[in-house]
Amino acid sequence: MNSVLLASNRGPVSFTVSDDGVLTMRRGGGGLVSGLSGVGREGDVLWVCAALSDGDRSAARQAPGGRLDHAGYETGALRMLDIASSTFHRAYNSVANSTLWFVNHLLYDIPNAPHFGTRFRRDWESYRDYNGAFALALAEEAGHGARVMVQDYHLTLTPAMLRAERPDLRVAHFSHTPWAPPEYFSLLPDDVAGEVLGGILGADHAGFLTRRWAEAFMECCRTVLGAEVDRRAGTVSYAGRATRIGVHALGVDGEALWARAGEPDVESHMAAIREQVGDRKLIVRIDRTELSKNIVRGLLSYKEFLDAHPEWHGRVVHLAFAYPSRHDLPEYREYTAAVQRCAQEIEDEYATEDWDPLILNVNDDYPRSLAAYRLADVLLVNPIRDGMNLVAKEGPVLSRTCALVLSREAGACAELGAHALVVNPYDITGTADALHAALVMPEPERVHRRARLVAAATALPPHRWLAAQLDALT
Ligand code: G6P
Repeated sequence: MNSVLLASNRGPVSFTVSDDGVLTMRRGGGGLVSGLSGVGREGDVLWVCAALSDGDRSAARQAPGGRLDHAGYETGALRMLDIASSTFHRAYNSVANSTLWFVNHLLYDIPNAPHFGTRFRRDWESYRDYNGAFALALAEEAGHGARVMVQDYHLTLTPAMLRAERPDLRVAHFSHTPWAPPEYFSLLPDDVAGEVLGGILGADHAGFLTRRWAEAFMECCRTVLGAEVDRRAGTVSYAGRATRIGVHALGVDGEALWARAGEPDVESHMAAIREQVGDRKLIVRIDRTELSKNIVRGLLSYKEFLDAHPEWHGRVVHLAFAYPSRHDLPEYREYTAAVQRCAQEIEDEYATEDWDPLILNVNDDYPRSLAAYRLADVLLVNPIRDGMNLVAKEGPVLSRTCALVLSREAGACAELGAHALVVNPYDITGTADALHAALVMPEPERVHRRARLVAAATALPPHRWLAAQLDALT
């Protein structure tokens, strides 16, 4: 039985299965996993996650009780849940990623979506079942009085379900996303909105990445549920109990990142990039190909920058890493195509025989991303809305002199904004100007700003972030 448990949809590893049945394990992607991978391995923490793919399912089935560590994988204590694939897909794709993610990132094209009809109701049932499967597994694995940390929008109902099953446990929920303001959150059917909020309030502690998202959550609890909110004490009281609200700005472990980025695979990618771009200045971005990351407007900004500044032609390269994400959703496939079209337009207009103005990389290659960070002169992070954005924190740690162009809608802006060039993510001209200002920023100013960015980025590394949440449960 475990005394500390961590639950999230995506786990620290994922598997692919070849035609002859051989399983290959690799690191999971996205901010949550990159933040938590280190801590998941520590001491007595059991990580419970879902099998996301056929490869994961077959690994989970072959492992005794889904415990991958008991099947000999070096994952740290890890149980992977083999939830029926149709249930999983409805919960993950339809509810979590197409509904809750869209609501909290304000992504709907409102005249046309969302539609909450009978199909949504069926999907919502699956989301309940999927949350129930996590609650059951956690109830099975947790020792008496154990502390359980439930992560993110996939698992909003699990805290209340787990409390009903195991009132002895101390439960925390943490949102890695923004939270919507009440008028947007209320797009959800009233009962669904109430269940999401009530599910999280089943926890003793509800954590957010910034004050802004915590405030929005409390405001939703007040207006949607009629809950009593005490802002000063940071509590929400509802259905006879109180949930404490905390703000924990997840940061990066600078030393571990440096150590990884100094390995030979990263060095050889650096050499390859240098070979490709010569001594030109580098504007780097690294994202999942994700609607909220605003990649198309980022590319349009680069194009406007090139239009406005012919003196930079031949002297700068934009290295845009947009690795694949959520391709089961048509919106994401279309968005990926839009990113590629836009990149092609820039190529067509500006490329010359000896200058490639843009290198778009659509494959997930972690060491190559680390190499790009190390070489960046400018890092562009321009999301429409983002819970935190760890790229904005990793970049300054790894590049000695990089200037950061940062969206004011990224959670990270609360800590990094004072030392970054802050942009409105919808303002293409403003972002183009910021790219130029970042490129011409004098060296001493870069060094000065970068030192402050690094201090802010590493203020709460994952192990301290986790400890702070565990303390909040004590
Ligand atoms: C965001 C979410 C994470 C998620 C990640 C990658 O960072 O907050 O929970 O794991 O995106 O998304 P994916 O759907 O690939 O897990």
